[in-house]
Amino acid sequence: MICKELEKAINAQINAEFWSAYLYLSMSMHFANKGFAGIANWYAVQFKEEQAHATIFMNYLNSRDGKVLLAPIAAVDTEWETPAAAFAATLAHEQKVTALINDLNALAVEHKDYATQNALQWFISEQVEEEENARTYIDTLEKIGDNGYGLYMFDKELAARTYVTPAPLAGKE
Ligand code: FEO
Repeated sequence: MICKELEKAINAQINAEFWSAYLYLSMSMHFANKGFAGIANWYAVQFKEEQAHATIFMNYLNSRDGKVLLAPIAAVDTEWETPAAAFAATLAHEQKVTALINDLNALAVEHKDYATQNALQWFISEQVEEEENARTYIDTLEKIGDNGYGLYMFDKELAARTYVTPAPLAGKE
C-alpha cells in the first residue's frame, strides 16, 4: 500500500497532467481557428498523450491501493501570438513538469518506495523527449522567421503526427 504523502503527491501530479492536456487542447483549438491545421493536429496528439500520462498515474495509484481524487482543473491560456510563442510556452511548461516528476521521485526515494521510483523512470525519460521536441520546433521556427512558405511547410510537417499509445498503457486503452 502506498503511503499517504506519496498518494497525495501522485494525485497532484494527475491534476498537473490533466492541466497539461487542457493547455494543449486550448493550443490545438487556437491554431485550428487560425488556419494552422498541422499545428492544431500536433497539439491534439499532445492532448491525448497528456491524458494518457494522467491515466498511467491513476492506474498506478489504483494498483498500490491508493485512492484517486480528481480535483478541478485550473483555467488555461487561450491565445498565442505566433506558433513560436506557443512552442516557447510548451517548453517552459514541460520544464515545470520535469521538475514536478523529479520532486516526486525525490519523495519516493525519501520514503524508500522502490515501486514508485520504478514507475517514475518511464516519466523521467518521457520528459527528456517532451523538452527536446519543443526545443526542436523552437529552433526550426527561429530559422523560418516570418517566411510564409516556411511556415506553410512547418504546418504540413506537423500534420503528419499520429498518436502512439505510451508503453505503460499498451493493451490497456
Ligand atoms: Fe505529461 Fe507533457 O508531460
